[in-house]
Amino acid sequence: MDGNSSPYETERPVQEKTRSEIVRIAYEVAKQQIDRRDREIEELAEKAAAKATRGLLSVPHRTIQKMVEIETTAWTDEQERQIARVQDEHESRIAREREEHEELLERTRRDYFAEIEETRAELVEKLAVLVRAEIESQLPGLLPEPVQVLLPEAPRPINIEGAAHRTLPELLLALRAHCHVLLVGPAGTGKSMLAKQAAEGLGLSFHALSLGPTTPMSKVFGYYDAHGNYHGTPFRRAFEDGGVMLLDELDNGHPGLLGELNQALALRVCAFADKMVTAHPDFHLVATANTFGTGGDQRYVGRQTLDAATLDRFTMIEVPIDTKLERRLAHAHAPSKPSEVKQLLKEVQRLRGIAERKHLPVVFSPRASIDGAKLLEAGATLEQVMAWRVFRGLSDSHRNALGAK
Ligand SMILES: Nc1ncnc2c1ncn2[C@@H]1O[C@H](COP(=O)(O)OP(=O)(O)OP(=O)(O)O)[C@@H](O)[C@H]1O
Ligand SMILES: [Mg+2]
Repeated sequence: MDGNSSPYETERPVQEKTRSEIVRIAYEVAKQQIDRRDREIEELAEKAAAKATRGLLSVPHRTIQKMVEIETTAWTDEQERQIARVQDEHESRIAREREEHEELLERTRRDYFAEIEETRAELVEKLAVLVRAEIESQLPGLLPEPVQVLLPEAPRPINIEGAAHRTLPELLLALRAHCHVLLVGPAGTGKSMLAKQAAEGLGLSFHALSLGPTTPMSKVFGYYDAHGNYHGTPFRRAFEDGGVMLLDELDNGHPGLLGELNQALALRVCAFADKMVTAHPDFHLVATANTFGTGGDQRYVGRQTLDAATLDRFTMIEVPIDTKLERRLAHAHAPSKPSEVKQLLKEVQRLRGIAERKHLPVVFSPRASIDGAKLLEAGATLEQVMAWRVFRGLSDSHRNALGAK
């Protein structure tokens, strides 16, 4: 991919990160439960031991009666001495027995706790295996499925890592037919990502440039610096060496720039700042636009009307919101907050429906759901996410129309 031109590289490790995060959290929860049960068992054992010790130390009722009887009877001196001796012997025997009992009790208690500890360790280990197996079995529904596209005439299936928009096969088909493609759809539906995945699927390098009203010609065709050195562009590299070139937001570009591009697309020969270059056979152009080239609307103001000549050079593929992909991506970004993500998705999709029905010029894109899920995972509450990511910047009249407080 071209050095600084695309933000999409960061999405790649999501699958691995999510998997290990889910396993870690489930394991922690299970372990906490075992620890709690352990503490309860330990408390019970302590109570039982304390009770046994109390029993051992208490003097039986019959012994007390006997002692009172001995105290109150008039004995001869000899008899008193004898009694004292018997009492001494008796007391030292009791002391000895008590010591032995306490030792036994202590030993039993130690063995008992050691056994608990051992069982607990075994249990935790078994549980970890079970939790992991359970999660592994649930993961396919949670994580992006690898995508395999089988095109007619293609020698092998095309494998794409991660989740993909349902229109990816159409895009691959058009590119294999060497058509330049214009992806049209509302904001955040995954158009730019589609272009990147198509490049990956075709095994080609990926280059990207986002067009704006003031994007100069030099960003596309290159320029000479004050020392007479030519500086190339992502477009030049894709054109000359082959690769997928993403021209993001074509309908936001300057009409003069688009005119120059028309020629390069039609003739497959382009006048760069330094020389004429013929297109590589593997040069593919994917452009994206939020409008069908018919000019700005209330939502996408300032968009250019693309002239018929430009539009005529593109195969147009519509990229609507893929709600299944939106759901998968949102959940993958917040593995520890499934119920909050569900609520967020429901709310974003509900507002999207109202905006659509009432023709309100506001956008509730899948980007809101995905970024919202990231915020939830980072610890934000659902209310904060709705305020920061969904309702932010809406006028009072739009809020009222949406039925928001
Ligand atoms: N298949 C995918 N896998 C992972 N993330 C995706 C995928 N598709 C889209 N996304 C994420 O969804 C968000 C919107 O995608 P993207 O930028 O491609 O939309 P877009 O249609 O080009 O939007 P815009 O019209 O505003 O340019 C991004 O954060 C992107 O990383
Ligand atoms: Mg885009």
